[in-house]
Order: sequence, then C-alpha cells, then structure tokens
Amino acid sequence: PFPAPWVFIRGVPSLKFLPPEGPPEVAFAGRSNVGKSSLINALVKTKGLARTSNTPGRTQELNYFVPDGHAGTRDDLPPLALVDMPGYGYAKAPKEKVDEWTRLVFDYLRGRSTLKRVYLLIDSRHGLKANDEEVMQLLDKAAVSYQVVLTKTDKIKEAGVPRLIEATLAGIRRHPAAFPEVIATSSERGLGIEELRAAIMKAISV
Ligand code: GTP
Ligand code: MG
Repeated sequence: PFPAPWVFIRGVPSLKFLPPEGPPEVAFAGRSNVGKSSLINALVKTKGLARTSNTPGRTQELNYFVPDGHAGTRDDLPPLALVDMPGYGYAKAPKEKVDEWTRLVFDYLRGRSTLKRVYLLIDSRHGLKANDEEVMQLLDKAAVSYQVVLTKTDKIKEAGVPRLIEATLAGIRRHPAAFPEVIATSSERGLGIEELRAAIMKAISV
C-alpha cells in the first residue's frame, strides 16, 4: 500500500546537497506551473506539504518527501522518496535563476542512480511542448524510465480526454525510455491519483 503520512525532509539547492543515494526515488518534472507540487499534495493527501502557487517558479529546489517515521539513518532508510522539482520553461524569472534551476533539474535527472521513475507532467490544455521533448530526449539518452502524466484534466472537456491521451501516446511513441501508458489526473478533483499511487509502488518494486 501507498505509505502515509509524509514529511518534508530536505530542500536541495544544488547537487552537492543531495542526500546520499539510498532509498528508491521518484521525481516529478515538468514545465513551471504544470501542477507538480499540487500533484504531490494530492498523492500524500496533505494540502500545503509541497508549496504551490499561481505564479510559475514557486518550487526552486529539489524538495524531498519521505514517509514519516524514518530517521534516514543507514539502518532506517525510507522505502521511497518523492522529489518535487523546479519547473522548466519559465521565461519571466531572471535568466540566471532559470539557467540555474534548469541545470539542477537536468543534472539530477541524468545522474541519479536511485531514481527509479520520472513522472513527466504535461498540462492538459497545452500538450507536449518543445522543452518537454528536450527533457524526454535527455531521459532517453540517460536510460531513465519515465511516464507522462496529464494534469489539470478538470480544465478541459471530459469528452476531450481520450483524444488527448491518444495524441500524447503518439507523441511519446518514438521515445525508448517512455512508459507506453499515460495517466490522466486532476489534483483538484482527485482524478487519476489512486492510479498514480499504484503506478509508483509498481515502479519502485522493479
Ligand atoms: P512550479 O513549482 O512553479 O514549477 O509549479 P508547479 O508545477 O509545482 O505547479 P503548482 O502545483 O504550484 O500549481 C500551479 C497552479 O496550478 C496552482 O494555482 C494550482 O492551484 C493549479 N493547479 C494544480 N493542479 C491543478 C488541477 O488539477 N486543476 C486545476 N484546475 N488547477 C490546478
Ligand atoms: Mg512546484
């Protein structure tokens, strides 16, 4: 079963502050404002655990969440860590900052041996963009397994969801590291959340 409750353990502003590799990690990546932090809150059933905002660029570090009650010592490693990430593609923040976050995200995604699965979040209203494609190519190259998750499905017509899933599947077909199924979610309405929890537990068990 999916663990509960969860706690925040660490914000990582640059790679040298990463915790030692140990527990399996799953990370949530995507463009700014796509709903990464909101999705984590929905998964862990705790509003406000991951900080969210209307304004893109809210999450600025790699934020680590683990099930409560694990001291994180060698003998008491958590069974799983969820990693919230800064978004990419936010043009309005100072270029220096954007470059810094993007590098942090890309370096982490490429080089973390305990990273079991990346959930690549795509806003249902926007679909796959050029910078998502860039991240997918990086993950393909690094052979890091990832699964696309559509967010904010409450913002589009229900009848459009199957078509959007089909279009997204077509967009990931040629990506060797992409998991060939897409999960449609709404953090707001709690849609697809249980399915995502099950997918995470399965991903870390392989
Ligand atoms: P950054 O940390 O800035 O990269 O953003 P993020 O991807 O973490 O997005 P965040 O979770 O902060 O959400 C951005 C905005 O989208 C907030 O105003 C959320 O309330 C809203 N939002 C997130 N998920 C949903 C959803 O499922 N439905 C709707 N309608 N709004 C959502
Ligand atoms: Mg965030």
